[in-house]
Amino acid sequence: MSDTRQSLNRREFFSYLSVAWIAFSAACAGLASLAFRFSYPNVNFEPEMEFLAGTPDLYEEGVDERYKNGYGVWMVKLEGKLFALSNICTHLGCIPNWLPAELKFKCPCHGSGYYMSGINFEGPAPRPLERYAITLNAEGKIKVDKTKVYRWEKGQWDHPNSYLTV
Ligand code: FES
Repeated sequence: MSDTRQSLNRREFFSYLSVAWIAFSAACAGLASLAFRFSYPNVNFEPEMEFLAGTPDLYEEGVDERYKNGYGVWMVKLEGKLFALSNICTHLGCIPNWLPAELKFKCPCHGSGYYMSGINFEGPAPRPLERYAITLNAEGKIKVDKTKVYRWEKGQWDHPNSYLTV
């Protein structure tokens, strides 16, 4: 009787020991993963600052939105010029929408409106949208470089790299 009782106790002991060991191992693994995560900074994956945007013949007169979501850029062909327009509202940085029926960009946050050219005309936006550098590479492809910004209010929209003649 006492042998049976003793063997049960031993079995229970090893069972508890196994559970405790598994719990301890899981806790150690959790701590190790936290330490690993802590040792790496939060990386903010920004859109690419440079991209190729096809060839000029791909664009029709008006606003092309194919690079809006991936790169934050509207490609606009207007009166013989093709330019890369930033989609960041100059008021507080919201993303306006292009309204083709009204031929304007309209910011959903506080109502700023911009003409197709990027010039602001309503709402609290203090200045026009910005344009990015746009050039043709050796293969005739359009290269947009968001590290170079051209502002209308500084007279920079006349700069030869702020548009392509099309
Ligand atoms: S952020 Fe666009 S109007 Fe305020």
